[in-house]
Amino acid sequence: MKFRLPALPLAMIATLAFVPAPVVAQQHHPWDDKTLSPDVRADMVIKEMTLDEKIQLVHGTGWGALREGDPIPPRSNKGAGYTEGIPRLGIPDINLADSAVGVRLAATESRYATLLPSTLGAASSWDVQGAQLYGSVIGRELRAQGYNMSIGGGVDITREPRNGRNFEYAGEDPVLAGTMTGNLMKGLQSQQIMGDIKHYAYNDQETGREILSAHVDKKAGRESDLLAFQIAIGIAQPAGVMCSYNRVDSVYACENDYLLNDVLKKDFGFKGWVLSDWEATHSTVKAALAGLDMEMPGLDYFGAPLKQAVEKGEVPLSRVEDMDHRILRSMFAVGVVDNPPMPRSVVDPFKGLEDAQHIEEESIVLLKNANGALPLKSTVRSVAIIGSHADKGILSGGGSAQVDPPGGNVIDPRPGEPKWQETVYFPSSPMKYIRKQAPEAKIEFNEGTDAASAAALAKSSDVAIVFVNQVMHEGEDAKTLSLPGNQDELVSAVAAANPHTIVVLETGGPVTMPWAEKVEGILSTWYPGIGGGEAIANVLFGTVNPSGKLPVTFAKRDADLPHPEIAGMNLKEGPDHKLPPFDVNYTEGAKVGYKWYESQHIQPLFPFGFGLSYTTYAYSDLKVKEGGKEVSFSIKNTGSRAGAEIAEVYGALPKAAGEAYKRLVAFDRVDLAPGESKTVTLKIDPLYLSVFLVDKDAFELLPGEYRLTVGPSSDKTPLEQTVSIRK
Ligand code: GLC
Repeated sequence: MKFRLPALPLAMIATLAFVPAPVVAQQHHPWDDKTLSPDVRADMVIKEMTLDEKIQLVHGTGWGALREGDPIPPRSNKGAGYTEGIPRLGIPDINLADSAVGVRLAATESRYATLLPSTLGAASSWDVQGAQLYGSVIGRELRAQGYNMSIGGGVDITREPRNGRNFEYAGEDPVLAGTMTGNLMKGLQSQQIMGDIKHYAYNDQETGREILSAHVDKKAGRESDLLAFQIAIGIAQPAGVMCSYNRVDSVYACENDYLLNDVLKKDFGFKGWVLSDWEATHSTVKAALAGLDMEMPGLDYFGAPLKQAVEKGEVPLSRVEDMDHRILRSMFAVGVVDNPPMPRSVVDPFKGLEDAQHIEEESIVLLKNANGALPLKSTVRSVAIIGSHADKGILSGGGSAQVDPPGGNVIDPRPGEPKWQETVYFPSSPMKYIRKQAPEAKIEFNEGTDAASAAALAKSSDVAIVFVNQVMHEGEDAKTLSLPGNQDELVSAVAAANPHTIVVLETGGPVTMPWAEKVEGILSTWYPGIGGGEAIANVLFGTVNPSGKLPVTFAKRDADLPHPEIAGMNLKEGPDHKLPPFDVNYTEGAKVGYKWYESQHIQPLFPFGFGLSYTTYAYSDLKVKEGGKEVSFSIKNTGSRAGAEIAEVYGALPKAAGEAYKRLVAFDRVDLAPGESKTVTLKIDPLYLSVFLVDKDAFELLPGEYRLTVGPSSDKTPLEQTVSIRK
């Protein structure tokens, strides 16, 4: 099925072609021999490098295109960061681009980039192939635009459901988040573009991110936040890992020896390099010895000061050469030396749109469908569409993940790219595609700014569809899970006027829904991406059967969260416009998300792993094999239409583990025709059932009785078997 794109201005397409080609020496070097390993090739280059070149490779050149008026190096591709290469040795520059949900800053150079759905949305698909597709779209477009590195790959778990950047991450569970983000980055690197995983670690809120000190019990940290990183890095083998702004146990993450050397490099076996978040470097010697390998975006600490530290013997030359080795071996391993991006090609906007729409169609979660309200019929006579600019477009997330909309922000189409933290809507109108689905219906739009007028329109329509939104961006958290503005009142007024009310959520994460009982249908579409309008209409009218399941718990109220208030939220900024230092004590430990609600016996609004379909499924015949390392079970589509079912496998540890919750240990997405049955066989990684023993500094599988359960959601696991695992 071909999709029409909003017509790209010809001028834009014409200019897409010109970007300065990277300067890479063409002469032959011994390390060009591709039969040699990346590590051997890297060492061969290092032998030829001068001290200045060894230093040059481990830092950026400044804010460049990210800061108005800052100098931009001639070969910079005008992305988020730039490190000068060594042309005489055939080592290319490193041109890094923010690309969490699509390549950022494209419009500044009259380029086009595909806006994918939020990564939290993609995580809702639980589709590993879909995650790889997601990353390959970004990798493909980075290459076409002349970049050779992405700095997307956020995997900080949703410890704080009001975190402004949850839309850029992959949810609350380390196994799901790590698996989806790892495969996304694997897909990106499959395009021979270097990827990264970020923000390492515990950057779980934006409030005071540059000064807060996160405190998590060591055991709990390894079984939660750090496990997500361990899984993602293990799958993706990324070129980079970006250390975060915050402190961990009072030591900045980018100079934290425990996090960088002990855990990341020794325990995880990470072979790539650690780059700092932008101005997250705070020292030269301490950071270098703690395991930082590259300062970004500038050279305050790893430029001349690092050379002096080497000359004074404060930092061994071997440590700097290790930094160079990690960078160079990653460049060889991913392929950016042997196959440098040639930015003369234009991104394929049609393929990008198609892929983004497919991913969104798999990501939409059907949360409620009472009285068979959905799917809507194409013969519906009148539809009221209310709120969130649904006549014009769909919401996107802000900050360094902001992608530039083709033709400009549909709610403020002034020239130039969106400003930092601006609320940006993309030209993918749900109303346009709803019209296509019901061409005979009377379809009217109401802005939703006045509840009474919205209710009047709803009253005179067969169906009312209310689009609600939660604008989220980097640098700021939501104060509450409640929808911003008067949206709760709007939904209640519309539902009072028309019992056939459907709510479509466009949010950065979980929100509360005091009106949930009053409406017939609820869809969570996250930030829907450039294909979102059509994807939403396709699900509303049943062209697509929804299959997404929640990667985050939706709580009923803020008071049910481990932290009813975000730490630091009420602190006052000093004269320097910065918050004073403060601690964030994550006393809940590994009890993140559903593990918290289960251990506290709190009923959430919608549980982790929950999602409805237009068909039904039945589970049966669970078999546990290989001493708990493998399970098989059957799923049958007991309904009348095809669908994809996400099956979830949970494990509860022996009592000795003292965990009052179960853990996700495996999952799969199964396509089933009506009446079709399939047997699903899944491996369980023993790591996911292991506990971290601090005294042994290692994971261990405790002996004892493990209860394995299988089903459609964390709160619905009809199949159960206990398996005894010996030491
Ligand atoms: C930002 C973000 C990081 C981004 C970088 C470059 O502050 O924390 O995710 O990649 O700076 O824009």
